[in-house]
Amino acid sequence: MEGEPLSALCSPALVVDVDKVKKNAQRMIERCQKLGIQLRPHMKTHKTIECADIMTAGSRRCIVVSTLAEACFYADHGFDDILYAYSVPFDKVERCAALSERLDLFQVLLDHPDALTLLKQRPLKGGRLWHVWMKLDCGNGRAGVLHTEPEALGLAQAIAETEGVELTGVYVQCGNTYHCRGMEQIQAVVQETTNYLLQFMKQLNAAGISCKSSIGSTPSCSHPVDDMAKLSEVHPGNYVFYDVQQSGIGSCSLEDVAVRVLTRVIGHCPHRNQLLIDCGWSAISLDGAGKLPTGYAVIEGHPDLKLLSMTQEQGRVEPISGPLDYSKYPLGTLLKLIPYHSCATALMHPVYYVHSEGRLLGKWTPTRGW
Ligand SMILES: Cc1ncc(COP(=O)(O)O)c(C=O)c1O
Repeated sequence: MEGEPLSALCSPALVVDVDKVKKNAQRMIERCQKLGIQLRPHMKTHKTIECADIMTAGSRRCIVVSTLAEACFYADHGFDDILYAYSVPFDKVERCAALSERLDLFQVLLDHPDALTLLKQRPLKGGRLWHVWMKLDCGNGRAGVLHTEPEALGLAQAIAETEGVELTGVYVQCGNTYHCRGMEQIQAVVQETTNYLLQFMKQLNAAGISCKSSIGSTPSCSHPVDDMAKLSEVHPGNYVFYDVQQSGIGSCSLEDVAVRVLTRVIGHCPHRNQLLIDCGWSAISLDGAGKLPTGYAVIEGHPDLKLLSMTQEQGRVEPISGPLDYSKYPLGTLLKLIPYHSCATALMHPVYYVHSEGRLLGKWTPTRGW
């Protein structure tokens, strides 16, 4: 396979441009160096060892994961200083304890006093401490204690005062940047979120507590503000691949997107003015629905085409306007889809084909499950 063109692959297939991956990763490393803060990259987008090595510049330290399957996968490959940034699940405390007792630094996250009680009930062996991040909601609207609620400070104090537990840091996901369009809007949200977090850290300090602070999301870390230098860490993940969604938000340009789904024309339907392709919703995610003039994805080099709809294994493509010129798309024609959401799309593929300038270099195999 090595050295062959992408056309040697059976479709559908997820292909990764390793030069773009390296460039995206390096730019994030440099941004963080300039700010003087620690980059703790999230692994959820790709879930592979190879890409993790690129994102951590080979250190195999200081990563975030979204599942315990990822945590174990990375631990098994010599990674350490792993933050499982998901509200401690009640059914998985024992697995978290095993990782905490096995690694130098396994860290968990919580946003509710009941989760703290659960950790208290399972003291770690060998005098080890539970390393706990508290999740603060600064407008993201998902997990986290609302930063304006007195319960937030109360929970942080309770974590810090609990025997066998250490308050490692305060974690803010800046997911509300996903509603932005362009750098100015992104930076306004990032500035506000950073201010909220810094205010909270001040309150903690006044209560005699000091710990780390971290904010993240790909849009915010692609366009950081100077005040982020006052924080300890950032935790973006998607930036290593980027996608059409990120280019629409303004985190990157379409040229920065490192992944494509290869597909082939498998049918002509002149009675509907459509083509059929061998990529359905099992190979590219549906979450571009209604968001793009080109349908569920961007078809590279064919701005006049739209991925109109998909069934499990097939997609329907039609021209944005006018009649389709079938002579341009004989059966077997290779098309490259730029995914709307690379995390969701990559998750559908058991293996990623890696290339440089269109020549295959090898495969990356991600971990799966929870
Ligand atoms: C808890 C948490 N941290 C970090 C990230 C990474 O953010 P992004 O995907 O914008 O890079 C996510 C993404 O969903 C997340 O849920």
